[in-house]
Amino acid sequence: MDVLPNMPPASLAIPRLIAHRGAKANAPENTLAAFARAREEGALWVEFDVKLTADGVPVVIHDEMLERTTDGRGAVRSTSLAALKRLDAGAWFAPAFRGERVPTLVEALDLFARLDMGFNLEIKPCPGREVETARTTIAVLDAHWPANRPAPVLSSFKAEALAAVRDLTPRYALGYLAEKLGQGWIEAAQRLGCKTVHPGWHSLTEKQIGAAKAAGFPLLVWTVNEPARARQLLAWGVDALITDNPGDLAAAIER
Ligand code: G3P
Ligand code: MG
Repeated sequence: MDVLPNMPPASLAIPRLIAHRGAKANAPENTLAAFARAREEGALWVEFDVKLTADGVPVVIHDEMLERTTDGRGAVRSTSLAALKRLDAGAWFAPAFRGERVPTLVEALDLFARLDMGFNLEIKPCPGREVETARTTIAVLDAHWPANRPAPVLSSFKAEALAAVRDLTPRYALGYLAEKLGQGWIEAAQRLGCKTVHPGWHSLTEKQIGAAKAAGFPLLVWTVNEPARARQLLAWGVDALITDNPGDLAAAIER
């Protein structure tokens, strides 16, 4: 296994702020409305989560269960696309968003192309569906995301999902997603062919940031909503902040 410095693709142009699940503070997360709102707030990229329906269609939703972000009940993995599409994914957030649906990955990609946005797609498989979710996601991206569009980053907490993409295609930059950067993370990320690293901010230290930079990994840190924290992380060399509130955070850190 090589331990050469990581080399992110030259085409990877990651903006400083990325909208977490869309502009999650101001619109229902992981909906087309949240992605459009992110763009209105000035975000050039969004982060969002992909899982498979019962019939194997990649859709944009965070939780394994439907209850928190829709008016449905039960598990995403046992709900068909047709049944999922009947659910409301906006009213729980505010009445003005009634009628929002859980988007398919294809619908999200169509919107990003229309709005000229880039994205960090988090492969968030239901347990046991890691490889299937990764492979299906790649098939949809290959068919619907032209090479002349901004190169996306595909991240996951699940090594099996990252390895499945690594073994399938070199076309997409992989992101090593972790709550914290534990012992041996650089070797693990390199083994998985990752080009970027995505740690949570809570336990991240300046020293770890330095080590990641020395190994050639751009850092995309989540979920950063506090201006003081954002300024500190950027001063330490973090490349991008994944935030619920891109408009307000941009205004605050520019002040
Ligand atoms: O990709 C960064 C972040 O979204 C990971 O956590 O739970 O918000 O998907 P979560
Ligand atoms: Mg996510």
